[in-house]
Amino acid sequence: MLLMNILGIETSCDETAAAVVRDGTTMLSNIVASQIDIHQKYGGVVPEIAARSHIEAMQPVIQEALDTAKLTWDDIDGIAVTRGPGLIGSLLIGTLTARTLALVKNKPLYGINHVEAHVYANWLIDTPPTFPLLALIVSGGHTQLALFRGHEDYELLGQTQDDAVGEAFDKAAKVLGLPYPGGPSIAKAATQGNKEVYTFTKPKTANLLDFSYSGLKTALLRAAQKAAGGDHTLPSHQVASRITDAQRADLAASFQATAIDVLVDRLEKAYMTHRPASVVIAGGVAASQPLRDAISKRLDVTVPYPPMSLCTDNAAMIAARGYFAAKAGQQISAHNLVTDPSLSM
Ligand code: KG4
Ligand code: ZN
Repeated sequence: MLLMNILGIETSCDETAAAVVRDGTTMLSNIVASQIDIHQKYGGVVPEIAARSHIEAMQPVIQEALDTAKLTWDDIDGIAVTRGPGLIGSLLIGTLTARTLALVKNKPLYGINHVEAHVYANWLIDTPPTFPLLALIVSGGHTQLALFRGHEDYELLGQTQDDAVGEAFDKAAKVLGLPYPGGPSIAKAATQGNKEVYTFTKPKTANLLDFSYSGLKTALLRAAQKAAGGDHTLPSHQVASRITDAQRADLAASFQATAIDVLVDRLEKAYMTHRPASVVIAGGVAASQPLRDAISKRLDVTVPYPPMSLCTDNAAMIAARGYFAAKAGQQISAHNLVTDPSLSM
């Protein structure tokens, strides 16, 4: 059988990434230049800075992906690039690079949906999942629940009506004076706290498999303002310095418990309804140990977790998805590839 090496390119948010994956399953390289330290001082991603950093990092990252894979352009059978969703300025750097390379190097090009690709991180581990596959995709930009019956055959079961869960973690961390990214820093603070101290109500959504996080985010702000001795008029940036470390830890623990509960409620409901052959959790929030613990407590299924480097944004997942796109004949001309910042599943 012919081997197929796909070069993946990912620039949807604040990581400049390139990777080479063979046959959608074997990772030959996975290079990520993270901008996390640049954005950390602003407490979140600054789109203009992200785009500029992609321009600087793109070429060296692609070269490093080829070098690490010990391949030259002759060995590359196709280029897969994230075409959305994401930040427009960031996406454009990746797609323009991929389109140019596809033309200059004369390679087939594939435009990839970043959210779908997160699920494909699971094809890069030892035992890939089997269909039907229930996927919970949770990151700073996405909160989706999807049922895959095959590679090109899936149904979106539910999604967030407002903020993504990772975004809620990031905003909650900012209120509590904890560093970006919020997920890990809230998890760390929560280990010192008691989740029973504050009670946050879980959102109700018309579609029982949808998610909502803006109410929880506001509830956390109100509880923190109160803990700081103020009311809803206390500016959010003044809250962190007026609460004690114990209050911060309890707020973090209570917030985290509710945020996770909402995810697991929906996942369990979908699991009971569809009885899939496998379940995967994709995206940066899959790194959450409390989330993993809650899932294993409530669902009678073994969930394979890819290493952290494949849960957060990376290009190997784009290349893996690209391989199946190639097999499905989804090649697109470099002239016709359209960048879509709000591309949905
Ligand atoms: O997939 P990702 O790297 O980027 C996006 O596509 O958004 O996900 C980043 C998100 C951030 O919001 C971060 O707070 C969250 O993943 N995250 C976590 C953890 N590690 C990262 N959330 C909860 N617990 C964690 N340990
Ligand atoms: Zn992502």
